[in-house]
Amino acid sequence: MLDALKLQPEDKILGLMKLFRSDTREDKIDLGVGVYKDANGNTPIMRAVKAAERQLWDDETTKTYTGLIGDAAFHKVMSDLVLGDTVAKERLSFAHCPGGTGAIHQILQLVKFANPNATIWLSSPSWANHASIIAHLGLAKRDYAYFDAQTRAVDFEAMMTDLREAKEGDVIIIHGCCHNPTGANLKPSQWDQVAEFLIANKLTPFVDIAYQGFGDGIEEDAYGVRKLASVCPELLVASSCSKNFGIYRERCGLAIAMTSAKDQVITQANMAHLNRQNFSFPPDHGARLVTMVLSDPDLRSDWEAELKEVREGMIQIRETLSSSLQTASGSDRFGFLADHRGMFSRLGASPEQVAKLREDFGIYMVGDSRMNIAGITEDKVDRLTDAFMAVGV
Ligand code: LMR
Repeated sequence: MLDALKLQPEDKILGLMKLFRSDTREDKIDLGVGVYKDANGNTPIMRAVKAAERQLWDDETTKTYTGLIGDAAFHKVMSDLVLGDTVAKERLSFAHCPGGTGAIHQILQLVKFANPNATIWLSSPSWANHASIIAHLGLAKRDYAYFDAQTRAVDFEAMMTDLREAKEGDVIIIHGCCHNPTGANLKPSQWDQVAEFLIANKLTPFVDIAYQGFGDGIEEDAYGVRKLASVCPELLVASSCSKNFGIYRERCGLAIAMTSAKDQVITQANMAHLNRQNFSFPPDHGARLVTMVLSDPDLRSDWEAELKEVREGMIQIRETLSSSLQTASGSDRFGFLADHRGMFSRLGASPEQVAKLREDFGIYMVGDSRMNIAGITEDKVDRLTDAFMAVGV
């Protein structure tokens, strides 16, 4: 039977990770997968997470199952982190899922239960796995304009023009902050307009927030999702703890559905059912660490301080690379690197230039020229600048 299997399309980011690992050049540079690296090129365990882990080692007395939808304390700290105090708790349903990706998958399954005819709208471009999961679940997808390749900013007018074609009951996926792959983000006033538009057209927002704290700040990065939560009748959220807590391999994410208080019980029951069908009980370790870090004032302030160092480090490297490229090119066309926020920016190189950077210079970035800014350290800026100039970016 299994000989009937066909190969599935390869995920480009994962394919690139494999290629990078097999490259034996010592000076290769990984700007591929979205993983934070410090000045020495390591992905450290955050101080507060390590301290919580030590404490957990002493205090944990059982490894029996957690709740089917995860632990209520985890739901509370995470919904406070993401939504603040914008929503009455009796309107919220949760499912602790393996990673932000698990939460995305499950929210889309929930959408399929509620409205199998919904079209899922995605920014063009978006994280490639969004489209892949939508197709995997057999849902309809359309793209809305988002990124202007000339200005390297959000083309808000084009975005709204496309979204006017969405029909009642459709779901609009919006990156909460630190847009992946472009680094170009909605301004607060634009979030306000999006909120009004979604309400007027009875569209359901689905915010994927995987990088809270990596852009302008923990609170600032939550502006959009909180705005939608405070005015929309319904909201879906997939939040990830992979990046802002640095616990990638613990697979820790939370699916949140905000409904009317009347629909909460049935929504919660559906989300619990989905956990049971997909993997039963969620993995606990990461969520327990996050709960400890966010509930303990000392751990929390150390986590916030370290996250600030990470964020400011990325902004600093954006500025250094941007000015180095501006000097080398004698133009201001790389200013966007300093304006963007989050882990990614699109360099604007052609697929041929991206291939040349990989083959001739050992510089790895995704085929659409998405660069992981957190993969760049100060000592690499000159090499990157020379290579970008050499291939004619
Ligand atoms: C990325 O976009 O590189 C990250 O979100 C990692 C992933 O799973 O693709």
